[in-house]
Amino acid sequence: MENGRAIEILRVEDSPANVRLTQGAIRMAEPVTRILLVGDSPPDAQLLRAILAEPDVVRYEVTHVQRLTEAVRYLQADRFDITLLDLSLPDSQGMETVRNIRREAPGVPIVVLTGLDDETLGIAAVREGAQDYLVKGQSDRRLLVRAIRYAIERHRAEEALARYRDHLEELVVQRTEALAATNAVLQEQIVERARAEEALDAARHKLETERERQRLSLASELHDSVGQELIGMKFTLERVMATSKAGLTDSALAGMKEAVSQCSDLIREVRAISHGLYPPALRAFGLTQALKHVGGDGQQGIPVVVTTDAALEAARFPNDIEITLYRITQEALLNAQRHSRATRIAIHLGCDGDHAVLTITDDGVGFSPDKVAGRGLGFISMNERVANLGGTFNVRSEPGETRIEVRVPSQACATHE
Ligand SMILES: Nc1ncnc2c1ncn2[C@@H]1O[C@H](COP(=O)(O)OP(=O)(O)O)[C@@H](O)[C@H]1O
Ligand SMILES: [Mg+2]
Repeated sequence: MENGRAIEILRVEDSPANVRLTQGAIRMAEPVTRILLVGDSPPDAQLLRAILAEPDVVRYEVTHVQRLTEAVRYLQADRFDITLLDLSLPDSQGMETVRNIRREAPGVPIVVLTGLDDETLGIAAVREGAQDYLVKGQSDRRLLVRAIRYAIERHRAEEALARYRDHLEELVVQRTEALAATNAVLQEQIVERARAEEALDAARHKLETERERQRLSLASELHDSVGQELIGMKFTLERVMATSKAGLTDSALAGMKEAVSQCSDLIREVRAISHGLYPPALRAFGLTQALKHVGGDGQQGIPVVVTTDAALEAARFPNDIEITLYRITQEALLNAQRHSRATRIAIHLGCDGDHAVLTITDDGVGFSPDKVAGRGLGFISMNERVANLGGTFNVRSEPGETRIEVRVPSQACATHE
């Protein structure tokens, strides 16, 4: 009965579509293994069919074709579980036969049928991707069935593995793409942030420069205009007092004396304000001399020692460096005087490579820079001023020594090296 069905199928030499129809019509509920037997020997085919027709848990459906072209046509049109392949066909010989079938139907495992004396060919076929080889005429039923089952199982396992590998590769590609996208976004944000910071720095620098420029102009204005006018007024009053002394009443004379003294006070005040806005020593003699001048005043009884590298004694720095270092010195001295209870303050201006280095050191009580970070306006503004010049600002403090160090790139130092 089983046998009859298998033969019936073997007889169908029609188009693959018809074969499919016929097979569909008689398909049974029990498991079926569909075999495409490719070989040009009908007796071999008969023998194989007979062997496989014996009752088993699996039913074998054998479709037999003789040529490679037919085999390809069948494999493409229908689903087979395995191809049993004779290597010598009328239209294809040897390894080419395996390659062709594999190329046309990669999803179907191949077991090669070799002649008696051709074991090497079988091994070569396995290398080409065949699952196994069987020697024709030597295969008993057990061996044949086993080879077919193992070939199918091995092939399934390989395909599952390949699918899993493809899946993994796809995952890797996806993750890599996602990472690259995130990375690009981050990179963009970093660039944007750097740009914003640069713009902010530039704006700060501009503001600071503008502020100093206005101070300078206000200082000149006060000194040259208001100051001079006051001096002129004082002279006029003194002249009138000297020439018209006799004609003046005592109270008028006293009033004028009072006015002269008020003039003197105003002149001093205007000068002080104008000097505070822009120290004249800085403008006239440069940073080194101006520092000595600041130090020379002493700080409320605390002696200040100012030293400079000999090379910088007569050096002039660009305006913004001079003002910055001068203002920092003023603020640091004010801090020392207010907060440190020091007995000695030292200021040093020198070069380190192409950087000018200013240090202000006191021997006072010290403080913890971490604790005051971001609180005192003095340090914030010192920091900003230095940053504007592309320099660094550093504070180190412990009981007994507070040391502020400012480093700014400077041509004056580069040329003195
Ligand atoms: N030379 C110093 N010795 C001890 N403490 C100091 C010294 N300089 C600064 N400090 C501490 O650091 C704080 C912050 O200083 P600063 O930023 O100049 O702000 P301010 O002087 O307005 O308090 C000060 O309040 C003080 O506690
Ligand atoms: Mg301060």
